[in-house]
Amino acid sequence: MMSHNLLRGKKGIIFGALTNESIAWAVAEKAFSEGARFTLTNSPLGLRIGQINELAKLCNAEVITADVSVVEDLENLLNKSMEILGGKIDFILHAIGMSKNVLKKRDYDDLNYKDFIQTIDICALSLHKLLQTTSKLDALNEYASVVTLTYIGSQRIFPDYSDMSQAKAMLESIVRNFGYQYGIKKKVRVNAVSQSPTFTTAVKGVKSFKEFYEFADKMSPLGNATAQECGDYCITLFSDLTRKVTMQTLYHDGGFSSTGMSSNLFMKND
Ligand code: NAI
Repeated sequence: MMSHNLLRGKKGIIFGALTNESIAWAVAEKAFSEGARFTLTNSPLGLRIGQINELAKLCNAEVITADVSVVEDLENLLNKSMEILGGKIDFILHAIGMSKNVLKKRDYDDLNYKDFIQTIDICALSLHKLLQTTSKLDALNEYASVVTLTYIGSQRIFPDYSDMSQAKAMLESIVRNFGYQYGIKKKVRVNAVSQSPTFTTAVKGVKSFKEFYEFADKMSPLGNATAQECGDYCITLFSDLTRKVTMQTLYHDGGFSSTGMSSNLFMKND
């Protein structure tokens, strides 16, 4: 892996690495190879069922448990991270997704509202909780960069995306609103990367994901973007080369979002 030392001297926190398929896993490996130091975090359940300790060894990082929907956990995570890394934070990756309605494959006209609220809390409100906590603790350096992951299902209809559509729409709105506030107060950047469909644990519950992945791959002139490529893109957003990019939903999708119809859809596979 070629390094450009783009993150040399930078301190970060990476949420959401569960398995080596996780997008956050790829981001962590790239950030490490670009010279960053960071802590890794996941929920108690994520720590139990995932392989984060393997990643921690590879990246020489400490793991701190935090349920992203619990403000006290976030305070503890930020304080410990600053202590371990020796100062304020320069970048955060928020790569979190979970919907019980999707996991239970419930139809959109038969959603469970308790689960709906939990989806919103974990997938969207958690970014607000995180930013409000970093702001109160004054935990971020000037020009720090916060990146969250989203999906175009926030803007267009993808039938099986369910309550995640509303969660991602809210997430993108929080990116703009908090990005504005934090930009004025502290010159902190907040952006969302809208990623192509990617095979990870989070999509295991999504109906017909394989067909859907293949359709997107054909629709996108450059093909679907991989988790590793998403890692590369996130590194540019954490780096000093993108200091004036903020409040954006940035499409990292091989061109899918601008394509109405692609001739690749009609080509035979053989
Ligand atoms: P993943 O399943 O590997 O990662 C999701 C992570 O969220 C897991 O590490 C899980 O433990 C964590 N999480 C869930 N509840 C939590 C809680 N209460 N507290 C702390 N952590 C919690 O899946 P993936 O795909 O890497 O997801 C990362 C992000 O990328 C998500 O925001 C997802 O919506 C987004 N995304 C994924 C796409 C895909 O096709 N896989 C496409 C576009 C965006």
